[in-house]
Amino acid sequence: MAEPLSTPKGIHDILPDDHDYHTYIKKVVRHRARQAGFRRITTPVIEYTDLFQRGIGDGTDIVSKEMYTFEDRKERSLTLKPEGTAGVARAYIEHGMNQWPKPVLLYYFEPHFRYDRPQKGRYRQFWQLGFEVLGESDPALDAQVIYMAQKIFSDLGIADVFELQLNTIGTPEARKKYTAVLQDFYLDKIRAIPPEFRDLVDTNPLRLLDQKDEDLQILAKMAPSMKDYLDQESLDFHEELKGYLDELGIKYVENDKLVRGLDYYTRTVFEFWDKNTGAQNAVGGGGRYDGLIELLGGQPTPGMGFAAGVERLIANMKIQKVRVPSKDDLHVFVAQLGTEAKRKCLPLIDKLRDAGLKTMGALGKGSINVQLGLANKFKVPYTVLIGITEVREGTAIIRDMSKGIQETVKFDEVVPRLVKLIGDDKLDKYSPGELTYE
Ligand code: HAM
Repeated sequence: MAEPLSTPKGIHDILPDDHDYHTYIKKVVRHRARQAGFRRITTPVIEYTDLFQRGIGDGTDIVSKEMYTFEDRKERSLTLKPEGTAGVARAYIEHGMNQWPKPVLLYYFEPHFRYDRPQKGRYRQFWQLGFEVLGESDPALDAQVIYMAQKIFSDLGIADVFELQLNTIGTPEARKKYTAVLQDFYLDKIRAIPPEFRDLVDTNPLRLLDQKDEDLQILAKMAPSMKDYLDQESLDFHEELKGYLDELGIKYVENDKLVRGLDYYTRTVFEFWDKNTGAQNAVGGGGRYDGLIELLGGQPTPGMGFAAGVERLIANMKIQKVRVPSKDDLHVFVAQLGTEAKRKCLPLIDKLRDAGLKTMGALGKGSINVQLGLANKFKVPYTVLIGITEVREGTAIIRDMSKGIQETVKFDEVVPRLVKLIGDDKLDKYSPGELTYE
């Protein structure tokens, strides 16, 4: 027998039970997005590698270690997107969104790819929901984005699990000054830094501040504080943001060691940490990126956004025992005996479905008992039975599966009778919205 295949390491299927969670989360996101004027964008799964190198930064873990990069047949370097913001910024420039009314408000719900070390809550393909606000710089926008994230957590029944960690990292100029000071500090302490982190002193000393390693955490406590090197404007911006958060009743923990793993951030950065486990498995994070669009070749354009990991949201919902509705449960199974009956069943099934009854049946050639057994396995509340007698008499039997009782109705009565039994409010009526013509 051939060796059974599995998904690549760190990559998982989304099975129907988890899709119920996906569907629910997507609904919440769409609802909150629409209420606030956000429109959906989907950027491609594959982009030119250069976008992420420039956007996220060469010295970051994501770009230096975690990207799925390959060449196409013309030797162009392509990468599976490791995050959503760079692609949205590229699309903003490419489609002239600077001409759109500002701020441009966009959201997404998509898979992303990072060659991370797989562990609980960390995958190589994972889904993110994200929001980006482009074209305006105002701390009130930062507050609104954070508030929206919190609203979504609250809609999902998990708002109390997380704690908002907040920091400002100032302008790139201020950060450059601070980075130099930090580099000197760490160079002095190089022997105390575990060898695997020593490269960061050169490439990205800021990242030494927010590692989980205990030695580095002790050093980080002694390190010069970022606040002392920030520009006044950024500090004022931050104070204003905090004022708005207070106004909205959003609690936060000020964390001056929070720098985040992507280089495009300016000023506001934030993460939602599990109150029990801390930064290990942040469920979401984001910040302001006022320099990104210019860095990618566009006009100077401020930006601010947020993304959360869908798998981590689902894991937390399950821990909190939050159940989501499943719309997959069937209403009716149609069982038949004989070719004539089967022929009548197919249009009947179609009518039942059009009426909003979730229906399956007309399967195989098994006896009525075998089919009833199958109906039980699918947990339908009602089964329609059509045999030779029913075909001849133009009737059908409707069986109540839990009570074990049945009634004979005229064939034409089957649909209205079942609609009544199931109840109008339970029907799955499909309405994609009204079409209009130009
Ligand atoms: P990020 O912090 O790298 O930010 O990712 C956001 C969230 O994606 C994380 O908090 C986590 O829940 C989830 N996530 C990241 N990596 C993995 C993984 N390997 N497995 C499972 N979940 C993961 C960003 O990506 C920024 N683009 C956020 C942003 C939007 N900033 C501004 N706008």
